[in-house]
Amino acid sequence: MELDQRYWNDRYLNNTAKWDLGQISTPIKEYVDGITNKNVKILIPGAGNSYEAEYLHKIGFSDITVIDIASEPLLNLESRLPKSHNLKLIKEDFFNHQGNYDLIIEQTFLCALELRFRESYPIKMSDLLNSNGILAGVLFTIDKNRSEPPFGGTMEEYRKLFEPLFKIETLEPCYNSVPDRKNKEVFIQFKKK
Ligand SMILES: C[S@@+](CC[C@H](N)C(=O)[O-])C[C@H]1O[C@@H](n2cnc3c(N)ncnc32)[C@H](O)[C@@H]1O
Repeated sequence: MELDQRYWNDRYLNNTAKWDLGQISTPIKEYVDGITNKNVKILIPGAGNSYEAEYLHKIGFSDITVIDIASEPLLNLESRLPKSHNLKLIKEDFFNHQGNYDLIIEQTFLCALELRFRESYPIKMSDLLNSNGILAGVLFTIDKNRSEPPFGGTMEEYRKLFEPLFKIETLEPCYNSVPDRKNKEVFIQFKKK
């Protein structure tokens, strides 16, 4: 099975987007609530319906870019935003995206990618970040050997994967997960080296 644009778009159209929380997740909300500089350049890749982007916009962040390979969630997001919004909603493969950001928010994106992309992901994230830029969010610690996403990993695997390119500032069990994800995810804050 190829996890391509059609696969993801169909999951939204068939109402099988089980990962969709219908609202911003608590760990991401608490994290962004603590950021005082509302002008940081933010990227949310594999954003889906991105209640995160909607919330960031609502609380005054001024530079938000959202990428998804599937059009359906981007249309959904657009329909929920005010007409005059200035978010950049881009239908594109993350690995083709060019840009430079201060903060990239991860939520159920790495786990959506086939395992063959594991090494490319930190490299691309580092390329897209400004110096001292931050990759922050949540990563699943469920099993990675599954026939379909989500593909998880262990804290040790994540440490090894990111350490060459990032300073691991936070990599710890997430204390404020939504109930369904309790004890199944870690919070990360990695600073580009
Ligand atoms: C499991 S969903 C998570 C969506 C969102 N982050 C959330 O938490 O609701 C994974 C998302 O990544 C998108 N995606 C998968 N591969 C992608 C790629 N190579 N580039 C950009 N988006 C991708 C899918 O279309 C899907 O919306």
